[in-house]
Amino acid sequence: MNSTVVLQRDGEIALLLIDNPPVNALSRQVREQLLECLHQALGDKTVTALVIASEGNTFVAGADIKEFDLPLQAPHLPDLLAMIENATKPVIAALHGSVFGGGLELALACHYRLAEGNARFALPEVSLGLIPGAGGTQRLPRLCGALAALEMVVGGERIDTARALQIGLIDKVVATELRSSAISWAYEVAQRPPRRVREQPIPAYDAAVFNERAAQLLSKLSGQEAPPLALEALQQASRLPFEAGMAHEREIFIARRQSPQAHALRHVFFAERELAARVRAHARSAPTRSIETVAVIGAGLMGSGIALCLANTGIPTLLVDTQEQALERGRLVVERYYQGSLEKGKLNADEASRRTSLIRYATTLSSVADADLIIEAVFEDLAIKQEVFRQLDQFAKPGAILATNTSYLDVTAIASATSRPGDVIGMHFFSPAQVMRLLEVVRTPQVLPEVLASVLQLGARLGKTAIAVGNCYGFAGNRLLAVREREAGFLLEEGASPQDVDRVIRGFGFPMGPFELRDLSGVDIAWRNRQGRAGHLSEAERRCDLIEQLHAAGRLGQKSGAGYYRYEQGQRRGVADEFVSQMLVEHRRRRGITPRPIGDDEILARCLFVMINEAAHLLEQGIVDSVNDIDLVWLHGYGFPRYKGGLLYYADQVGLATVATALSNWARAFAERGIEVSGMLQRMAEEGRSFTHG
Ligand code: COA
Repeated sequence: MNSTVVLQRDGEIALLLIDNPPVNALSRQVREQLLECLHQALGDKTVTALVIASEGNTFVAGADIKEFDLPLQAPHLPDLLAMIENATKPVIAALHGSVFGGGLELALACHYRLAEGNARFALPEVSLGLIPGAGGTQRLPRLCGALAALEMVVGGERIDTARALQIGLIDKVVATELRSSAISWAYEVAQRPPRRVREQPIPAYDAAVFNERAAQLLSKLSGQEAPPLALEALQQASRLPFEAGMAHEREIFIARRQSPQAHALRHVFFAERELAARVRAHARSAPTRSIETVAVIGAGLMGSGIALCLANTGIPTLLVDTQEQALERGRLVVERYYQGSLEKGKLNADEASRRTSLIRYATTLSSVADADLIIEAVFEDLAIKQEVFRQLDQFAKPGAILATNTSYLDVTAIASATSRPGDVIGMHFFSPAQVMRLLEVVRTPQVLPEVLASVLQLGARLGKTAIAVGNCYGFAGNRLLAVREREAGFLLEEGASPQDVDRVIRGFGFPMGPFELRDLSGVDIAWRNRQGRAGHLSEAERRCDLIEQLHAAGRLGQKSGAGYYRYEQGQRRGVADEFVSQMLVEHRRRRGITPRPIGDDEILARCLFVMINEAAHLLEQGIVDSVNDIDLVWLHGYGFPRYKGGLLYYADQVGLATVATALSNWARAFAERGIEVSGMLQRMAEEGRSFTHG
């Protein structure tokens, strides 16, 4: 058996060194060996104090998430931590890197805590559908106060050493020589009695302030089951004796491990890491091009957002717009953004000014000559984009990567305007680009592997979830969005109201429903898309012309004060509008449709199952490489609720047979709509397979 914990001696001090790469997770083996080393050190009369530290670039990032699907295995972490806390010799935690979850709970059970400046502290359990299970909710409020504990336990706040020192979570910070500092300190404290957090009372706090903040946090986390339970455990710390509070916390933790939300969140955790590993593998498989300077063409909201995102990563960026006024507006967006970051305390003055000055401005396309990467973000029109690319082909240096930020158009057609289609790629950012994590990287059949690898790598550098997708209408994300919107339109024809559909989709956990989203992104955009695709629409889609009707009435969505909803001055949430009800009544009458009541279950199934079907087509057609890509695209770009695990993970929970049968029934019932049930989905359903387990 490998050693994951080693016991070393420095005179009278025992050093227990955890060594379980990559993040020193507290696996069963680590717990067993830690227990053994503790027994040895505590039983050795010549040892006067203990130091617990870790090898590698992090202390302990938490329990081993891979073990959460297994039955609980002794030694259990709370017992191990009780042994540390109850020790009669002082135990010091020497902390660096990530001190997360069980790692932080381990530190809390020690009697003294010292950290390197780079350490970060968090109890991220709620983000995995859990609550801390080894004393986090009981010891943290005793040590740092209930309010600070609330932010970390319920809000999942991650703090740095300065804040940790301020709230009393750590006793000291050292610049270097963590281990030797801890050992010197151990000699000092060896003569003192151990200082046990469990024996400290929770400092007095204002319950009204606590409750108000708790309500605020919970309202932001609605739909998630773990945060209110974490709050409950934390509140019990003030009401129950320590042991009873610990037992209560543990009971909730154990029940949470197997909860559907915890399973779903684990799936997302590993899906995100699997994607990151694929991006790294891509970069290894092809030589990457260095991207040190970038030019962004088009200073609209999207172009300015992309420039912000690059400057936030420290990349010098040139924002180009041939219209001087548009460029000025872009400059204002950039300046206001950094001014706002400064005012909110997110950046200090030096950093805000450094980032502001990383973005330069130009009005001529020829100024892109030095850029390693040029990202076009002009109006969504093929002819206009092709013209821009024709010019970029003249001005860009050899070896520069030319990217288009199109959200629907054919990247191959754009690349064909240049003499170097191998250097042309799609970079589909989501608005606002400086906030949204998703980046679809659109590969054409001609793109060079090194160009794809370089852009994926840049995506990771920008902190994005960068996913390679094939070149097709709407790529992966918008193609799924389009089928949901199409189905939602049919539901209106059949008798549902926009409010019904939006309420159900919001109830599922999306931040907004399809019609609210349409009003936000613009009825005119949908209208233009339909015009551009007139030849591809089925007869049923053509006749479900609600977008054309809204457009003709000048109802362009939020921007014009009305779309599917009416928007009162200054209100972002729309109200139901008689105009739309009447429009639907007339529409159904013209189409000879007798409206029927449609239940919430049918609305949800219709909206989601058509997406699952389309996702299966995307996999079959090789537009996406993996099931995880589908899940991550919708989680990071479209507000799919993380605690439901992603679209295809959700499909597995429903059961592929249920999904495939429903789709086949609809395909028969609505033959004119041309629903093509994916052959792969049908086969998987017949064979009893699932997306996430193959
Ligand atoms: N248990 C098991 N494996 C873990 C883990 C954990 N608690 N935390 C990270 N890992 C694994 C990852 O799966 C990844 O494995 P891989 O290389 O096979 O893909 C590897 O450690 C590195 O993690 P990664 O996230 O890619 O590295 P990073 O440097 O970007 O981030 C952390 C490191 C610790 C910040 C991040 O992994 C993290 O937040 N982990 C979860 C911490 C947590 O939630 N702890 C509480 C558990 S209840």
